Amino acid sequence: MKSKAAVLYEIHEPLRVVNLEMDDPKEGEVRVRIGAAGICLSDHHIMEGTGSTLRPVVLGHEGAGTVEEVGLGVSSVKVGDRCILSFVTNCGHCSTCRSGSPQLCLTNRLTGGRQFDGTTRLTDGEGQSVFQLSKIGVFSERSVVPARACYPVVGDVPMDVLALIGCCVTTGVGAVINNPFMRPGATIAVFGAGGVGTNVVQGARLMNAAKVIAVDLNQEKLDFVKRFGATDLVNASEVDPVAAVKELSGGGVDFAFEVFGSGQTVAQCVEVLRPNGVAVVVGLAPEADRSSLEVTTLVRNQKILMGSYYGSASPHETFARILDFYQRGLIDVQGQITRRYPLEQVNEAYDDLIAGKPGRGVLIPNG
Ligand code: APR
Ligand code: ZN
Ligand code: ZN
Repeated sequence: MKSKAAVLYEIHEPLRVVNLEMDDPKEGEVRVRIGAAGICLSDHHIMEGTGSTLRPVVLGHEGAGTVEEVGLGVSSVKVGDRCILSFVTNCGHCSTCRSGSPQLCLTNRLTGGRQFDGTTRLTDGEGQSVFQLSKIGVFSERSVVPARACYPVVGDVPMDVLALIGCCVTTGVGAVINNPFMRPGATIAVFGAGGVGTNVVQGARLMNAAKVIAVDLNQEKLDFVKRFGATDLVNASEVDPVAAVKELSGGGVDFAFEVFGSGQTVAQCVEVLRPNGVAVVVGLAPEADRSSLEVTTLVRNQKILMGSYYGSASPHETFARILDFYQRGLIDVQGQITRRYPLEQVNEAYDDLIAGKPGRGVLIPNG
C-alpha cells in the first residue's frame, strides 16, 4: 500500500510531500484513511528543532479518520469506524498508566515515533525507514496506528471537528474542566489566544467563569477569541500584560493558563495570580527554554504552578465529554476552522499559522 505524506527530513527545511510504502497493520494496529488533520504549533517546534523526535518523520498529531483495515487481535474498532486519533496511546501497564494518567504513558514516550513493538511501518523511495509523529503521523493520506489510539465516534460529526478534538479542543477544554482546583465562577486569564487558547477560553466559559481575560500580542487573534467567550482582551504588544490583568481582575486572577509556550509567559502567569491562585502551563516551550520566577511569591501567597498535558486526564474520557458538549451546542468547534488546505500545501498552512492568521487551519489529505 502507498500513501502520500508530508515528511520532515531536516530541521529548518520545508516538509516534503512524498509517496511512501506502507506496511500492513500488525497485531493490535489498524490502518486509517485520514479525513482531516489540524495545523498545530507543536509540529512547528519539531520543524524548528526546538522539540525533538527521530527523523525522517511524518508530522501531524491532530487528526481523525476512518478505519480501513484491522490487524490481528483488534476488537476495540472495526472497518468503517470513524475515529478521533489520540496523539498519546496508552500501553496500559506502565506506572503512569496504572496510576490513572494514561496521557503520560511512559512506554508511549519511550517508543516515540515508532509503533509499540519498536519498529516502523513506512519506507521512502530510498528505502529509508520513516517515523510517525506520536505514532499517528496524520499529515498523510493513510496511517497505520495502534488500535488503542483510535476513539470510535457514533453519529455523523464532521471529520474536521473530530480532528480538532484530537488535540486543540481536548488540550484546551480539558486543561480547564479536568483541573483539580477548578471551580465555577472563577476569574481566569489565558496567555495565548491561538488554536489551543481558544479552547481554554471555551473551557472557562463552560465553568461559568466570572471573567475570561485573553492575552495575546496579536489583536486579530484577540478579537477572534471574543466570540468564544473572552470577556476582556489584553494586547501584550501595547500594554504590560501583568499590570493589565491585575487591574482587570481587581488585584489578581484565580487561574492563569499559559497557552503559548515560553519561560517568559510562564513567569507572567505566576505573577498575575491572586493569593492561592493556580498557574497552569499548557504550552510547550522550546525544550531549551527556562523560566525565571519570583520564588517567594509562591510561598507568601501560596500560589500553585502546574503543568497540563493533553487535557490533564485520559484523552479518550475527555473526548467523550467534549463530544457531548459539542452535540449539546455548548462548545463551538466548526467556528474555529478558518482555513482548509490540500496535503501539498502543508508548508503554506504553517506559514499562515506563523504569520498570525486567527483560527485553526486544517489539512484534508484525501481532498
Ligand atoms: N504573550 C501572549 N501570547 C503570545 C505571546 C506572548 N508573549 N507570544 C505569542 N503569543 C500568542 C500567539 O500570537 C498565538 O496567538 O500565542 C498564540 C499561540 O497560538 P498558536 O500559534 O495557534 O499555537 P497553538 O497551536 O494554540 O499551540 C499553543 O500549545 O500544544 C502547545 O506546542 C503547542 O506550545 C504550543 C501551545
Ligand atoms: Zn497539538
Ligand atoms: Zn503506559
